[in-house]
Amino acid sequence: MPVQEAREHRGLLRLITCGSVDDGKSTLLGRLLLETHSILEDQFTALRADSGRAGGAGAGIDLAWLVDGLMAEREQGITIDVAYRFFHTAKRKFIVADTPGHEQYTRNMVTGASTADVAVILVDARKGVLTQTRRHAYLTALLGVRRLVLAVNKMDLVGHARERFDAIVADFGEFARQAQLPPVTAIPLVATNGDNVATASAAMPWHAGTTLLNYLETVALDDEEPAKRPFRMPVQWVNRAQGLRGLAGQIVSGLVRVGDHVQVWPAGTESVVARVITGQDERQSAVGGQSTQIVLGTEVDAGRGSVVAALEHPPQVADQFEATVIWLHEAPLLQGRSYLLKIGTQLAAATVAPVRYRVNVNTLEQLAAERLELNDIGVCELALDRDIVFAPYAEDRALGGFVLIDRVTNATVGAGLIRFALRRAANLHRQLLDVDKAVRARQKAQRPRVVWLTGLSGAGKSTIANLLERKLVAGGRHTYLLDGDNVRLGLNRDLGFSAQDRVANVRRIAEVAKLMVDAGLIVIVSAISPFRAERRTARELFEPGEFVEVFVDTPLEVVEQRDAKGLYRKARAGLLKNFTGIDSPYEVPESPEVHLRTTGMSVESAALQLLAYLD
Ligand code: ADX
Repeated sequence: MPVQEAREHRGLLRLITCGSVDDGKSTLLGRLLLETHSILEDQFTALRADSGRAGGAGAGIDLAWLVDGLMAEREQGITIDVAYRFFHTAKRKFIVADTPGHEQYTRNMVTGASTADVAVILVDARKGVLTQTRRHAYLTALLGVRRLVLAVNKMDLVGHARERFDAIVADFGEFARQAQLPPVTAIPLVATNGDNVATASAAMPWHAGTTLLNYLETVALDDEEPAKRPFRMPVQWVNRAQGLRGLAGQIVSGLVRVGDHVQVWPAGTESVVARVITGQDERQSAVGGQSTQIVLGTEVDAGRGSVVAALEHPPQVADQFEATVIWLHEAPLLQGRSYLLKIGTQLAAATVAPVRYRVNVNTLEQLAAERLELNDIGVCELALDRDIVFAPYAEDRALGGFVLIDRVTNATVGAGLIRFALRRAANLHRQLLDVDKAVRARQKAQRPRVVWLTGLSGAGKSTIANLLERKLVAGGRHTYLLDGDNVRLGLNRDLGFSAQDRVANVRRIAEVAKLMVDAGLIVIVSAISPFRAERRTARELFEPGEFVEVFVDTPLEVVEQRDAKGLYRKARAGLLKNFTGIDSPYEVPESPEVHLRTTGMSVESAALQLLAYLD
């Protein structure tokens, strides 16, 4: 019964409340629940118990759909500190994402707002529009919330004064115009006694507008109606039970019927829907929000990460984008660093190059930036290591929203919204060459590899590398030594020692080493390469076994005492900034192939140990 299902979803409004406890947020929420005779029920407890797969629990309600927000974040297993509360009136059902106002606030707000229809932005009538008010409005609009309510609370504390309300509305209106926010409805409230929450306030007869509850019950949501939007379903897994081959996933938008013509992306292969199964039931159709299995009439290559979409509304496929990124982690986003990008059920490695600008949410200025700090909102270019299926976020929240994950710690560090694809690399194709690495290796009668020496400045990397190379050459090997200092005098002359410059330095050295390994050489790299993330990215450029990470482990006290180049002295005197080990971090390798504890070890024996490893 598809029609009924569609109606069920139309009768549902998702809202997010923004503001702090001080603004009266909990009181307002409590008041809404009270006025609608709802049972106070903390769904968060249920949500946490629902640790199974999407669609697992939740009697009658598909919890997964309601709370997924950024689905990827949930699948990552990261606890979302967002409480979802449910209430209903005769006209509609409501789900409120209540985002607690502590330091993880932005993260929670992004999660809550990414599925909301309406945002209620609370303002204390005494304080008026604050930085956080602008921030909440900007962020919710960015995340696709199409209607805002400016709830001016505590009107009793300003004598129910119309002038005060009008001034706040005018102030916010100016920002809304500049920021091109969606339509704003302003309502003067007293949440403590319910004025203008469900019943019109006798104390504010001058307010000709609606009450909050009446607004929420009647605001038109037609453009959100699932059946009117293009059908799209990211595939989570392929169910091969009983020879079925059902493409299982959650429909993120639109309606699918048996007999519909669809395409499976990224290949864009056409097929026809033969069966639609939800739960145990064979259906004629299914709509957005339902976890569904689709069986196609023809055998189509599909798996996790594929997207099934209506023929008339194909999604796009690309590997470079411009995107808005909201940074959620203490460690800044670094230009050039490789992150894991998760968009729906698809995964890719993504490099930010470059950050185009950062937005000052207060003034809406676009500021030049090389990095994004915690809670920054910026626009970046992203380069992926493979094609993904997507749609611009403004058009499709499910196919345009992604998260960025730190590849070393697995933490979700950013949320992003795709603006559009960049087509720069679209016409480049890898050329297949007749003389390849294997041919060159055979010619040199050796196994090409990279021996990557990492450690503090003055740890002995270059000295050991130098002796190792002499021994290899003496043994008839073909080698090249890429020394950090030397490369910085040429190829990397444009780079300094900021975090993002070191990221770039190591990335370029790794790419050059890769070319040289491809040329059949044994490459020795000697560079501080202080960050785990970039050493890992370097490793991933090579085949298993090709990358030999060597930790030249000389304690800081020792290198500082030796101080062959006099740089530690300068750094301690404050004459040299960002010096590794002093005021710039060195992240110790966790599992290097070779760990050289140099204390009490001669250069000769260090080189011999490496030689032995290579043999
Ligand atoms: S890396 O961090 O980007 O890998 P790299 O190994 O190429 O560094 O270069 C390090 C060398 O640059 C050091 O051996 C030292 O001679 C010199 N140097 C100059 N300034 C710094 C600094 N701030 N931190 C570390 N090394 C520096």
